[in-house]
Amino acid sequence: MSLHVIDHPLIQHKLTFIRDEKTEPKYFRDLLNEVAMLMGYEVTRNLKTKAVMTKTPIAEAKTYIIEGKDVAIVPILRAGLGMLDGLLSLIPTARVGHIGIYRDEETKKPIKYYCKLPKDIKERTVIVVDPMLATGGSVAEGIRLLKAEGCSDIRLMSLIASPEGLKNMRELYPDVDIYVAAIDDSLDENAYIVPGLGDAGDRLFGTK
Ligand code: PRP
Ligand code: URA
Repeated sequence: MSLHVIDHPLIQHKLTFIRDEKTEPKYFRDLLNEVAMLMGYEVTRNLKTKAVMTKTPIAEAKTYIIEGKDVAIVPILRAGLGMLDGLLSLIPTARVGHIGIYRDEETKKPIKYYCKLPKDIKERTVIVVDPMLATGGSVAEGIRLLKAEGCSDIRLMSLIASPEGLKNMRELYPDVDIYVAAIDDSLDENAYIVPGLGDAGDRLFGTK
């Protein structure tokens, strides 16, 4: 597994306001999408390109276009939706799969309630998006479903990860590359990331 911590100043600046408890849902949504777009640069850095000749108004130029596998973006509902538009604005031709998973409040185990994926998903480069990697259970369940569909090129984009979540991912899915903006200190007794940002879904949609 390769782990990329993207510490670009713009991302770190925006993350400060995403974490701030005073940030309202509208601003939280805007910032999360902006960060997703910026992180998307790194997540897509190694997509294959091929050279093509292009006639500019002045001369022929050797230029590059993306070739090879198409992309699918798979947000883990609900909070993953908060990173979808930002990434889609970078890769507008990507297909989108949705996986609905929530954590049981008592056991903290993931419960899947929805899954709708592009038919050809196993041929695609899959970018799983979920802002929070806490215990790692939800993302791991999403990746299990994708692997059961035959996906072999999967990368994960999260905003904040805990050391525990990263350790679990490393053990379960060492082949999945992970991109995060921050690795926080720990989990609290409710398995929330500390210092984290609270409940990402609630902050996105104003449900608390
Ligand atoms: C949040 C978050 C992740 C999960 C992380 O979702 O978006 O999916 O928790 O926790 P884990 O790594 O311990 O599994 P939540 O269960 O709150 O569902 P929601 O997005 O629908 O609110
Ligand atoms: N889910 C969240 O939304 N936040 C956390 O810190 C942990 C799980």
